[in-house]
Order: sequence, then C-alpha cells, then structure tokens
Amino acid sequence: MCTESARAPRVALAMAMAMAVLAVLGRAATPAHADQPAPTPAPAGPAPTPPAAVEPTPTPPAVVEPTPTPPAVVEPTPTPTSAPVVTPPPGPTRPAANPARGARLYKQRCAICHGNGGRGDGSIARELEPRPRDLTRGIFKLRSTASGALPTDDDLFRTLTRGIPGTAMFAWSGLPAADRWQLVYHIKSLSPRFARKAAPPLPAPDPPAMTEALRARGELVYQQMMCGECHGPDGRGDGVKARALVDDSRRRTYPFDLTRGWKLKAGSTPADLFRVLHTGLDGTPMPSYADALSEADGWALVAHLRGLFRDGTP
Ligand code: HEC
Ligand code: HEC
Repeated sequence: MCTESARAPRVALAMAMAMAVLAVLGRAATPAHADQPAPTPAPAGPAPTPPAAVEPTPTPPAVVEPTPTPPAVVEPTPTPTSAPVVTPPPGPTRPAANPARGARLYKQRCAICHGNGGRGDGSIARELEPRPRDLTRGIFKLRSTASGALPTDDDLFRTLTRGIPGTAMFAWSGLPAADRWQLVYHIKSLSPRFARKAAPPLPAPDPPAMTEALRARGELVYQQMMCGECHGPDGRGDGVKARALVDDSRRRTYPFDLTRGWKLKAGSTPADLFRVLHTGLDGTPMPSYADALSEADGWALVAHLRGLFRDGTP
C-alpha cells in the first residue's frame, strides 16, 4: 500500500504502531530506542508480579508444537515462576524448558509482529521497517558465533533483554528472566536449524586502550577494507553502494550511519564492535571480517569507529 517514496512517514507510522503495541502489551517491554540504550532493569520492588505469571494449566496448547527439542537443557531445579525473580544472572540459573509456557508467552508478546508460526507475518508486520524477522529461517543478525552459524542461547537471551535499537523490537527486560528463557527455548523450536549442534562463540579478547595512535591506524584500515563503499567516507551511511543494498529477503536495506552510536544493534562498547566486525550481520549485506582482519587491525578499526560517534555515545 505504502510506496517507497513514503518511507519517512512510514517509519513514523511504524514507531507510532510500535508505541501503541507497547501500550497494549502492558509495559513489559521497553522500546529499544536511541535515547535509552541501557537495558532498564525492572524496578527493585519486591513484588515482581509478572503479567500472567500464573501457571495453572500444564496441558500444552492445541497449537501444533513442531518437536520442541530444547537441546539438552540440563537443569535440576525446575523453579517455575514462583519465587520472587530478582534481576537476571543469565548464565547458570536457567529454568528447565516448559514448552507450553514458552508458546503462551510467545503468543501474548511476540506473535503480533513475528506471527503465530514465527514467519514474520504478524498482524502489524507490514507496517514496520525493518520488518520483524522470520524466525523459522533461523538466520540471526546478533550473535557471538561465526558468520552463518546459529546464535548461542545467551545471544538470544541478550537480544531479548536489550531489544534491537532503532527498530520495533523492544527490550524485554521487564519480563522475568525465567520467562525470557522460555521465550529463548520457544524461538529455537520455531526453526529446524536448531536441531543442529550449537556453534561455539568466537574468541573475545580483551580490548586494548583506545588511543589516538590506534584510531589513526584504524582510519587507514577503514579505507583499505573499503568500508566507505557502503558506509561512506565519513561513516554517515552514504557510500556509493548504499543506494542499492537489499537484504536476503530482497527488501531494501541501508548501511548503518556510523555516527549514531546509540543505535548500534549489537552494542557500542569496544568489545561489542569487535564482535560485530567478526560475526557480521547475517541476512544483511554487512559481511564478517573474521578472515580479513588481524586482531590488531580489528582493534584499530574499533578505535576509529568509536571516534566516529557524533551523538554522545560514551
Ligand atoms: C512490535 C513488533 C515486535 C514485537 C512485539 C517483537 N518483535 Fe522481535 N523483532 C521485531 C523486528 C522489527 C525485528 C527485526 C529487527 C532488525 O532486523 O534489525 C525483530 C527481530 C527479532 C529477533 C532476531 C534477532 C537477530 O539476532 O536477528 C528475535 C530473536 C526476536 N525479534 C524475538 C522476539 C521475541 C521472542 C518477541 C516476544 C517477546 C519479539 N521478538 C517481539 C519486531 C518485534
Ligand atoms: C556491502 C556493504 C557493506 C560493507 C562493505 C560494510 N558494511 Fe557495515 N553494514 C552494512 C549494512 C547494510 C549494515 C546494516 C545492517 C542491518 O542493520 O540490517 C551495516 C552495519 C554495520 C555496523 C552496525 C552494527 C550494529 O551493531 O548495528 C557497523 C559497526 C559496521 N557495519 C561496520 C562496518 C565496517 C567497519 C566495515 C568495513 C570493515 C563495513 N561495515 C563494511 C553494509 C556494509
């Protein structure tokens, strides 16, 4: 219905829709906007009162459950949503998978955008730019793993907790951690790709000091690697190739404006930038430079990227 020329109003409409959804979903989510990048932790009040935390029916919903197969989640304590859920120590305290609960949470919170079956065809999907992901394909932008590999459970948990800045994908930090884990398991049940063995995270070395000398070298690496062809010589997203980029769904996509650090989808710390240069953003034209960059050049590039921020990103 909307044409390409109506992109700006369309984005505004998308944001308005997103805010409306936010209101409907009852503030369990926080819009992952530029001005609030920090995953706002739930207020420290003692009563967590997660919406619809009551878990009376153990019977799985009539919805067809395509082989739940949550990969060997070994976790002795079933701990449902009973005890007061304090802020999320993600790692070891995962609950055992409860497919019925995961499916219900997904239906309540996610289906409006991602669709009941996860195909990215929820009722408001067409109004959004970028579109909600088709989760059945098992292709993810935000990972700690090599290009083309599946994300780890922790990657998915982190995405749900932080949201995706600059898009309609909220931060779900207001949901109890136990519920976010059920959603992680549910996401994995939506794509047959997760039947494969999980890929290990790439090495994550400690960042060096971000000195001016390192930044100056990074500027050269940026030129050598021809990042500017897409991102523009000054990183403003206006390179010569920028006008004609499409993602793997053949939808128009845009190189990131590197001056807007708050909007980085994968995060803005040196470690976040180093990671995203090595993983790439799967499904988009943003490639992985894991094979092309030495570790030293990688950090130099990170220092240059951080020097490009013009929006006060720390
Ligand atoms: C208001 C719409 C909306 C809602 C509600 C929503 N999402 Fe999303 N989601 C999006 C959009 C849009 C994207 C794509 C962002 C992009 O491509 O940069 C996305 C992307 C994702 C991704 C892909 C991340 C990656 O690494 O590529 C996952 C996983 C995801 N959403 C899970 C969920 C889950 C689970 C819920 C429910 C708790 C949910 N979403 C609710 C709009 C939504
Ligand atoms: C072929 C075009 C292309 C080239 C070449 C390219 N990028 Fe990108 N890059 C993109 C696109 C498109 C996106 C946005 C993808 C999205 O969010 O869907 C992006 C996103 C990014 C992001 C944002 C990641 C985030 O967390 O949101 C960074 C940082 C980045 N690129 C850095 C670089 C650097 C540094 C180089 C060179 C080493 C480079 N890019 C080369 C197309 C390109």
